[in-house]
Amino acid sequence: LDNGLALTPPMGWLHWERFMCNTDCRSDPDNCISEKLFMEMADIMATEGWLDAGYEYVCIDDCWPSAKRDARGRLQADPERFPSGIKALADYVHARGLKLGIYSDVGPTTCAGYPASYGSYELDARTFAEWGVDLLKFDGCNLQNISVLVEGYTNMSIALNGTGRPMVYSCEWPLYSWGEYIKPNYTQVRRYCNQWRNSADVEDSWESVRSLADWAANHQSLIVPVAGPGGWNDPDMLVIGNFGLSHSQQVTQMALWAIMAAPLIMSNDLRNLDGFSRNVLLNPHAIAVNQDPLGRQGTLVAKLKNNVDMWRRELAGGGMAVALVNRNQIGGPVLVNVSLSAWGLLGARVARACTPWCAVQVALPPGDATFLRLQGQAVRVAVNPTGAVLFTVRPHGGLPQPMVGVL
Ligand code: GLA
Repeated sequence: LDNGLALTPPMGWLHWERFMCNTDCRSDPDNCISEKLFMEMADIMATEGWLDAGYEYVCIDDCWPSAKRDARGRLQADPERFPSGIKALADYVHARGLKLGIYSDVGPTTCAGYPASYGSYELDARTFAEWGVDLLKFDGCNLQNISVLVEGYTNMSIALNGTGRPMVYSCEWPLYSWGEYIKPNYTQVRRYCNQWRNSADVEDSWESVRSLADWAANHQSLIVPVAGPGGWNDPDMLVIGNFGLSHSQQVTQMALWAIMAAPLIMSNDLRNLDGFSRNVLLNPHAIAVNQDPLGRQGTLVAKLKNNVDMWRRELAGGGMAVALVNRNQIGGPVLVNVSLSAWGLLGARVARACTPWCAVQVALPPGDATFLRLQGQAVRVAVNPTGAVLFTVRPHGGLPQPMVGVL
């Protein structure tokens, strides 16, 4: 969607995967969906380095509305859990330099059964704009008729645009289309949405993260060409820092989401993150790959021996990012030799851009040597089971003098 927004993949935080539809503020006041939760996340994002790293959107998912619209037909927040209202929350978030995201659905009710936008797209878009909302996640549950899917997502896009307020439009249109066995028209999706979900809801597990990346790889010829500044494939939230991923698997999610030019929307408890997860999520090299201004989504380029996948993403200025993912769930780290020339990592364009030399820099895992030792024109790395190594091959300009990695 060419609305001037999302020129790089949006970054932020969204409550769903971690906090779901917890509305029990009486017995679980710290974790229920309430203005307090979003204010606490906003405080931390603004003061603990998240905003500085690029995480900008604080997003509300399902279960925020009151069961009834107001006398003028407008959506309203649950009065007990959001006593100050969404406008006040937007003001609070904006005062900290952040942006606010909200959630609705193309049908009459949300997935969790709360009032949603069917029949009120223009009114709801205007309401969100008046509140100062900066992003809308628009779900696709509870449609009576599948024809409404295309019409609904398109009309809400037009309605948002009509408000004059810039709002990122996050769609689930392709996911619900696939659900009805209808191949989405991705040109159209890209014309109307800033990002779109294609595949299942992320869960807090390796199986889920792996299968979301596999979905993208299996459909890459269809979905990669449409991605770029203004419109992104969304493999769903980062679950790094929760309960289900090992350290290596957290690295893999970050590496793959960076390579896939995915929106970096965390769903975790920023109040309780350990240092490892924090370092992965704030890794400046991985974020730089994700936010690369060329905006070209990476692809799976090879299944190497020993069950290692190689992904590659072209970067602005002729560089390349590479992620190696060890799919084994048994054994120790696999040693991988990657010939830079054989895999187009030093193709004509990159080689020219690299004159007189290139720097090979490890982004992830964190804490490893910044620069790789090059053996001839090959990179040799150890990749943990279900782990990943993310590195970039770039022209040297702007990077510090490499310690060992000089071509
Ligand atoms: C759907 C979406 C999720 C989340 C829930 C909320 O399942 O795909 O991302 O928004 O609805 O009910």
